[in-house]
Amino acid sequence: MKPKLLIPKQIVTVNSKNEVLHNHAVEIIDGKIERIVSLKDLKTSEYNGDILDFHNYTLVPGFIQTHIHLCQTLFRGLADDLELLDWLQKRIFPYENSHTKNSLRASVRLGLHDLLTGGTTTVLDMGTLRNQEIIFEELIASGIRAFAGNCMMDKNELYPTFCDTSDWNLKSSYDLAKSFHNSNNGKVKYGFAPRFVLSCSERLLKETKEMMKDFSSSVFHTHSSENKSEIETVKRMTGKENVEYFESIGILDQNTVLAHCIHLNDSEVKTLKTNSVRVAHCPSSNLKLGSGIANIPRYIKEGISVSLGADGSPCNNGLNIFNEMRLAALIQKPIHGSTVMDALTVFRLATIEGAKALHIEKEVGSIEVGKKADLVLLDLDKADQPLLINDEGIYSSIVYSASKENVKSVLIDGKLVMDDGRCLMFDEDELLSIGKNELQQLLKRVSI
Ligand code: GUN
Ligand code: FE
Repeated sequence: MKPKLLIPKQIVTVNSKNEVLHNHAVEIIDGKIERIVSLKDLKTSEYNGDILDFHNYTLVPGFIQTHIHLCQTLFRGLADDLELLDWLQKRIFPYENSHTKNSLRASVRLGLHDLLTGGTTTVLDMGTLRNQEIIFEELIASGIRAFAGNCMMDKNELYPTFCDTSDWNLKSSYDLAKSFHNSNNGKVKYGFAPRFVLSCSERLLKETKEMMKDFSSSVFHTHSSENKSEIETVKRMTGKENVEYFESIGILDQNTVLAHCIHLNDSEVKTLKTNSVRVAHCPSSNLKLGSGIANIPRYIKEGISVSLGADGSPCNNGLNIFNEMRLAALIQKPIHGSTVMDALTVFRLATIEGAKALHIEKEVGSIEVGKKADLVLLDLDKADQPLLINDEGIYSSIVYSASKENVKSVLIDGKLVMDDGRCLMFDEDELLSIGKNELQQLLKRVSI
């Protein structure tokens, strides 16, 4: 690839000083940020490479979402107004169980289109029980940076036909990790994904953790403490609270990402901290399923890793990070006061904190020399946004006012995947027509 010189209006670096740079250009060589250079020191007319003139746009790091279900995108709008266990039993399990390879592919592509056009450049995806290789194929084709894995389920009282044996789950995950961990030039990694306590035997959870030792830099991704009825069931099954149970079987450490963590007692919060567990906060999903509001300001104060995720399309109903940032800030204020979750804090959750959660902060999450060029260009100069007369308002503009309509161009590893408001990886009309056809057929197969 030819060197590229990006010239934005300003650069929101998210470095340790949260610097915002003006009159600077970013040079990209071999997918990495080679230089961040003042325009005063540059003779652009002599530049030997491609110049990308984005002088109206603000450059920010690519967004990172640490809890997503791409296999569910097809079911957007088909599972509204239900609480978690009904939502799973009456809708999501039957739908997921009815996927064919083609419907799964259509779902994943729709999800990836939503993510890329919203400026998300890295995801941790929960995967699917069957045909997980389709998800990997699509992740690789899309160019996104991702951790993903077979959604493991070796029991399912809510919908008994949707699970498989422990041996099958373990072998399938191991084989997939062998094939896809560190694939696509290291952009795709394995995220072991036992779904939640209600769908996983103790053996499955423990042996999965054990298996991870063969795959350094993989993560362990599961749901925890999302819904009160779920937690009651976990207590009946194990005699313990959700996080207590995970601790007792030895699966909590810095490589564990727990989605939600809404209903925790004090001792469980301490457990997250002492074990350096990562919390994936999903505010839209938590509100829509009526699950509750996690005490995120407390987790942050305690030094617990918190990052953001849109969860699945049917509990949101979209996958864009702007909704998650805005809600992550707003939902805490009536409880803890309006000074908590300021815009800068929240913007960092969606960028560098996501990278730290996945241990890839040396590669992505901020705009610094040596990092991968995962970058997003936002048009913030709009009459319906704050008028940016100085740097003060920039985080406010992104967190409280922006939406995915403000995303103009997106690069991953220095390659444009969206430009001038147009996704370069997918044809939207084709996604729609294939998606509708697959959904129609799936709804004929499913019995709910
Ligand atoms: N818990 C177990 N599975 C799921 C899921 O698909 N979505 C959410 N939000 N919670 C879950
Ligand atoms: Fe989820």
